[in-house]
Amino acid sequence: MDSLDSIREAVLGQIAAAQDADALEAVRVSVLGRNGQLTALLKGLGALTQDERKVRGAALNVLKTEIETALGGAKAKHEGAALDKRLAQERIDVTLPVKADSDGRIHPISQTIDELIGIFGEMGFTVAEGPHIEDDFYNFTALNIPPEHPARQEHDTFYLTPRAADGSRKVLRTHTSPVQIRTMQSQKPPLRIIVPGRTFRSDHDATHSPMFHQVEGLVIDKNIHMGHLKGCLIEFCRTFFEIDDLPVRFRPSYFPFTEPSAEVDIGCSREGGGLKIGAGADWLEILGSGMVHPKVLANCGLDPAEYQGFAFGMGIERIAMLKYGIPDLRTFYESDLRWLRHYGFASLDVPSLITGAR
Ligand code: DAH
Repeated sequence: MDSLDSIREAVLGQIAAAQDADALEAVRVSVLGRNGQLTALLKGLGALTQDERKVRGAALNVLKTEIETALGGAKAKHEGAALDKRLAQERIDVTLPVKADSDGRIHPISQTIDELIGIFGEMGFTVAEGPHIEDDFYNFTALNIPPEHPARQEHDTFYLTPRAADGSRKVLRTHTSPVQIRTMQSQKPPLRIIVPGRTFRSDHDATHSPMFHQVEGLVIDKNIHMGHLKGCLIEFCRTFFEIDDLPVRFRPSYFPFTEPSAEVDIGCSREGGGLKIGAGADWLEILGSGMVHPKVLANCGLDPAEYQGFAFGMGIERIAMLKYGIPDLRTFYESDLRWLRHYGFASLDVPSLITGAR
């Protein structure tokens, strides 16, 4: 028993003296490892008589538990100290000003989408999404664009092969409008969504890119009328362009999925060759809108006598180009760092969601 007391004293001393986790592990191995001191004593129990083994075994087990407890306590202490040390070393001051020369920039498309979400979010809209590879049904048919409808040609669609058994082909969605259908099918009104996302048309010049972005809006409820559409879109235009008295005009138009339909123009001036938003006698078209067509509601299982709504859609590149004075749409996707440094936004330096810092 004396020898056990001296082992206890020595091992607890070693544990207390261990400076770090490695030193502690070395102590554990030397005592409890396969060739450890205590392991050897436990193995020796087999050579004793039954009575001797009972007494000695109990004492060894008490010692073993005591050592394991001490090891556990010391391990926790070392780990805590290591964590404290790391926390102290890796401390960062989040109140430091942003480095003016930091390389990262928010792309104007991302910035504009954040602004759209900020503005419509304030009005109670949530964000919805849908697939880029879309069924003909969602992209066209359910939106009241039947086969042979001229709008299908106007959309310059990228079709995927092969055709399904019914002759239809998958398409790269030509607009964000199919998400109207998906949302009306999967959620119950009242609905208030915006859908920012990528769209695809086979078109390429200074104002068209085969991949571009749109934002769709959809409001469905009982008793929704054209006044709601106008109020919502006037408010959006004035907030987005940051001009309180921005003139906004609703011009009769045609879309297969809305009736009546209106294109929305904002006041501008083109005097002297430049474009100035907000002043002057000219108009600039920025988005399409209308009251959701009763056939579209019915296609989604909604009773047009009970529910009405309005929808709108606009090109995100277009409104970003207008707000931030970006002259050529193709440059959005050239990944030219000089362009991004010039037109991009500082990530931590945004005073509000609505107004970008430049
Ligand atoms: N989907 C139309 C397009 O790509 C834009 C649009 C117009 C969307 C009117 C709408 C709307 O929701 O009501 O040209």
